[in-house]
Amino acid sequence: MALADILQQLDDLATEAVRAFEAAADAAALETARVEFLGAKSGRLKAAQKLMGSVESADRPAVGKRFNEVKTAIEAAFQAAGERLAAGPRRVVPAEPQFDPTLPGTAVRIGRLHPITQTIEELKDIMGRLGFSVAAGREVEDERHNFEALNIPREHPARDPLDNFYLAVARQAAPAGPMLLRSQTSTVQIRVMESKPPPVRVISLGRVYRPDTADATHYPMFHQMEGLLVDSRVTMADLKSVLRLFAASYLGGDVHIRFRPSFFPFTEPSVEVDYHWNDQWIEFGGAGMVDPNVLQAVGYDPEQVVGFAFGLGVERLCMRRHGITDIREFYKNDVRFLRQF
Ligand code: PHE
Repeated sequence: MALADILQQLDDLATEAVRAFEAAADAAALETARVEFLGAKSGRLKAAQKLMGSVESADRPAVGKRFNEVKTAIEAAFQAAGERLAAGPRRVVPAEPQFDPTLPGTAVRIGRLHPITQTIEELKDIMGRLGFSVAAGREVEDERHNFEALNIPREHPARDPLDNFYLAVARQAAPAGPMLLRSQTSTVQIRVMESKPPPVRVISLGRVYRPDTADATHYPMFHQMEGLLVDSRVTMADLKSVLRLFAASYLGGDVHIRFRPSFFPFTEPSVEVDYHWNDQWIEFGGAGMVDPNVLQAVGYDPEQVVGFAFGLGVERLCMRRHGITDIREFYKNDVRFLRQF
């Protein structure tokens, strides 16, 4: 027999014996296995030893060495099995139930709308009940819509490039002239009136951009709600009623609102709108009667129609409602903050 075959046979014997001893579940089974492999007369290890006689003398050292290793392994396995059985019956650990359908499930953490988005939805809802539909605008505007049609002449300080985010757009790519991120939602007044004849009763909510340094009450990007109502007979009393009804709905019934004389190029007269908050009057935006120049700029007849417009800060409304004291919280994307809404 070739040397390799003999060595393989010895290895197989070891494997079989170890497996048999490990599988022995009681003393009787262990004894049966012992007789089979280690039996003094007709055990298989004995038979293998007898085979040694027929091995060629040149192979004998290698075979002898392997035989001894196999013998040691088999005896050790027998010994271990005996000790295992002596230690007592193997404790049967019942298998864990894999799935208990009676337990409540693991809740999936669901995302939610950003507080500003939630506020916007609610403002649309309230104003919708007052008959205002929602108009969409653009965040990138030309100077006509952000300034000129709003009666803001070229030399007006609000047009200072340092007070606006002008975009570097190639002249050929901007047929409407220089483009900028809109600094107010009043641009939408123009876009709406350009696109349809009066009467108009819309709000528009969206982002505006100003190069302000961020602090507790300022951020270079924030949201406004613009309102515009144009009809044949509209007065400041209507404006104040709408703003008061709106504030009462959003902030609660006991909100006091105040108009302070002010100036905006696109309204005449103009007012600042203040709401009472924490024993203080807080400015929430501006408003006024639409300036006849604006009506003219969009092709409306100022002799036929009048209107009012207002612009309120969405962040301020949301902060007032929830007692948030720092506008920067909205834009940190800290889930611990956002989860509260
Ligand atoms: N656009 C003004 C602002 O951003 C607010 C405003 C809107 C004032 C409409 C009057 C009329 O401050």
